[in-house]
Amino acid sequence: MKILVTGGAGFIGSAVVRQAIRAGHEVVNVDALTYAACLDNVAEVADSPRYAFEQADIRDRAALDKIFALHAPDAVMHLAAESHVDRSIDGPGDFIETNITGTFNMLEAARRFWVAVGKPGHFRFHHISTDEVYGSLPADKSVLFTEDTAYDPRSPYSASKAASDHLVRAWHETYGLPMVLSNCSNNYGPYHFPEKLIPVVILGALAGKPLPIYGDGSNIRDWLYVEDHAAALLLVLQKGENGRSYNIGGENERTNLELVETLCAILDDKRPRADGQSYKEQITFVTDRPGHDARYAIDPSRIRDELGWRPSVTVEEGLALTVQWYLDNEAWWRALQSRIGVGQRLGVSA
Ligand SMILES: NC(=O)c1ccc[n+]([C@@H]2O[C@H](COP(=O)([O-])OP(=O)(O)OC[C@H]3O[C@@H](n4cnc5c(N)ncnc54)[C@H](O)[C@@H]3O)[C@@H](O)[C@H]2O)c1
Repeated sequence: MKILVTGGAGFIGSAVVRQAIRAGHEVVNVDALTYAACLDNVAEVADSPRYAFEQADIRDRAALDKIFALHAPDAVMHLAAESHVDRSIDGPGDFIETNITGTFNMLEAARRFWVAVGKPGHFRFHHISTDEVYGSLPADKSVLFTEDTAYDPRSPYSASKAASDHLVRAWHETYGLPMVLSNCSNNYGPYHFPEKLIPVVILGALAGKPLPIYGDGSNIRDWLYVEDHAAALLLVLQKGENGRSYNIGGENERTNLELVETLCAILDDKRPRADGQSYKEQITFVTDRPGHDARYAIDPSRIRDELGWRPSVTVEEGLALTVQWYLDNEAWWRALQSRIGVGQRLGVSA
């Protein structure tokens, strides 16, 4: 299958590109190369004859039309987005333009192409979204996000993703564009840009810096290893039912404090501090994020029961793999630390 992947130089998109090439697919990676992108993420596949890269901005409709006409994909996996909640608080405009208008452009370019080639039924537009569109859950562990949970986004980021989900459903209902949609919990793993919690903690610990925890650290997230998410996405693309959405989650709820303490324990084992103290000594509580959602947790029954998906690692295994990856790939993360905003506290200006 020839898959047009947007955002393939980012964290999750690059995992999708690497796995798709390994699985024998052709990939056209469309990415504007924003501050969050890194072409090193796809270096292992860059020389494949089945891989092509197009530097283009999804806000540029004419560029998208050319790319569709040139490459004639069988499917689209749309991951390109502004993805950092804290940045969406400081500057929501980019999130509206890329996540909403950019998705509109992608839908229109895909629709135009799909109509031009005779509306093939096997064509798919796979929109990759987040569980944050569902809002915040109570502490009661019996309550989970299902595909039927009402949308209730509460940050500029999640509101822009919710809007894009609605557009994709509308293009399916109105124009018949074949689509699948997936909403996933928090990802972690190799190539995670060093502005997000897990790499911030690993790299801050190694640098002897304070490890910032927003508020009291009680916010709960449901963590999924990025390679397991990428495998789920390729499965949804190929086996998902036209017009259906799938929640993807690892059933690994942890408070932020528990997560950071686990990372400290892994680092204590793999790279003990010179003074023999635990990295936990570096944990510092900082001002909370405005509107910080209390809890996210996914019920993955649909993708598990209908498509047979299972994560391959537990969160403890995935976190150990992730810490080891950062220890082994210092050149990768050092090069990104000078990117704009990295290492600064963002998103407190509300
Ligand atoms: N990271 C998570 O935990 C998570 C969880 C669920 C869903 N998602 C969704 O998955 C997708 C990928 O997330 P990520 O964490 O890999 O993001 P990321 O920020 O690491 O990567 C985003 C990529 O999109 C590209 N991009 C941004 N704006 C663009 C534009 N206007 N035109 C073309 N390319 C552009 C960037 O250059 C970058 O390569 C997003 O749609 C996000 O909403 C992320």
